[in-house]
Amino acid sequence: MIASRIDVALVHCPVLNRKGECSTTAITPMDVHDFSRTAAFYDVEHVYLVHPAKGMQSMVEDLTGYWQHGEGGERNQGRREVLKSIQMMDNLEAAQARHDYQLWFTSAQDMDAMTVLPADLPKMLGNHLIVFGTGWGLDVENLPKANGWLSPIVGIGKVRHLSVRAALAIYLDRLCMS
Ligand SMILES: C[S@@+](CC[C@H](N)C(=O)[O-])C[C@H]1O[C@@H](n2cnc3c(N)ncnc32)[C@H](O)[C@@H]1O
Repeated sequence: MIASRIDVALVHCPVLNRKGECSTTAITPMDVHDFSRTAAFYDVEHVYLVHPAKGMQSMVEDLTGYWQHGEGGERNQGRREVLKSIQMMDNLEAAQARHDYQLWFTSAQDMDAMTVLPADLPKMLGNHLIVFGTGWGLDVENLPKANGWLSPIVGIGKVRHLSVRAALAIYLDRLCMS
């Protein structure tokens, strides 16, 4: 069976801070560019950025607008195309409602919950949204219930936490190329 779609979300609120408290992080232009480019590379249509603050949403709209409708797009049509995937959302529930997604959370930690290998997700029927955290990771107690977790990416070195941009690229490669 083939999934009808796989998209991704990057959550800035609610996430955990270093004390394990519910928190909000700032959106960085680097994440906007890298998430949209990696998504385009693996033919992922939608990248949802989750942030409730209107100022942050305006910053992303200015950035994407420059490349999609302004002079940036005249000079670099590839970037115009790539940034089409970016959509701002007030919360994850709103993103989930877009395509009645099943939610798959991600973390560097092993979770005591239903876990799926990334390579198995495309075999599962339905619309899937892979959800990434910022700060110290997803605040699951204040997020909608997930279907499960993707199994963490395990390396061979001294650290287990990847940048969120690297985690996205590795997961999509395992999902799409297996
Ligand atoms: C907590 S954020 C850290 C954000 C950091 N400020 C940055 O710029 O990347 C990292 C996110 O990437 C993902 N991630 C990082 N390492 C991972 C791993 N080893 N396995 C699975 N997901 C991972 C998770 O979604 C996690 O919430």
